[in-house]
Amino acid sequence: MHTPTEVMAGIGLSARPGKSRWPARMDLAQSLSGLALGLFMWGHMFFVSSILLGYDAMWIVTRAFEGYFFFGRAYPLIVSGVVAVVAVLFVLHAFLAMRKFPANYRQYQLFTSHRALLGHGDTTLWWVQAVTGFMLFFLAFPHLYQMLMHPGAIGPYESGSRFWNGNWWPLYLVLLFAVELHGGIGLYRLAVKWGWLQGDDTNAGRARLKRAKWVLTIFFLVLGLATFAAYMKIGRDRAHLPAETYTPAWVQPAPGAAK
Ligand code: HEM
Repeated sequence: MHTPTEVMAGIGLSARPGKSRWPARMDLAQSLSGLALGLFMWGHMFFVSSILLGYDAMWIVTRAFEGYFFFGRAYPLIVSGVVAVVAVLFVLHAFLAMRKFPANYRQYQLFTSHRALLGHGDTTLWWVQAVTGFMLFFLAFPHLYQMLMHPGAIGPYESGSRFWNGNWWPLYLVLLFAVELHGGIGLYRLAVKWGWLQGDDTNAGRARLKRAKWVLTIFFLVLGLATFAAYMKIGRDRAHLPAETYTPAWVQPAPGAAK
């Protein structure tokens, strides 16, 4: 059993903290960037899953982001702009989160011994969030870079072919689980930390939030897996056909989104 002073020293805190406001500012920035990314991921999942409503639905969502219905032609660079903003938020969030990771084996040991000792569900959730966050460092950037550099190559045929012929599916599959677990736990922890939606009885409020978290995580995982299957099927069915950009029959001429 460690004394409180040992525990604080182990996780890099002084028993007599200074007066700097930076730790609080960084905490707030981490919460805000996490909230923005979590909400973005919900939107992202709905947009990507438009394929479940048909090729035309996904085509409309894609072209809407390219400004096609506003400018009368597609500007995929708009998508690159959105990706750049998301990537900057992602780097900022990861940088701020790094402060919370165990920095050496001793800190790791302290954490795991306390986790075992406490047997506290939320401490285990924190650990799952740290591990999935670490995975996202590596898994998200290949996808973001692809979207940044080839924003015009998004569409029912193009995305299906990326899943299947481009062999992006293993990355997407792991990314899906990592991001849904990470985002769900992150939003739950934000609500607990800042006292949102808890009501007067904190314990009952927390139990309610945890149930909502699992419902949302399962909902997005099921939606994600159905979407995954839809793109895989398109990719497999078209695997032996020449690469083509999907354009609905009612759109003539093609909007000319460059590859
Ligand atoms: C603005 C930035 C982003 C854009 C424009 C974007 C766009 C897309 C598109 C078009 C797809 C369909 C597959 C394809 O065309 O290759 C997709 C799939 C996916 N994206 Fe993103 N994405 C972005 C950011 C992210 C981030 C930050 C993550 C996670 C950290 C992520 C996770 C995923 C996952 C897991 C899939 C597969 C979905 C499934 O299997 O159901 N995306 N994304």
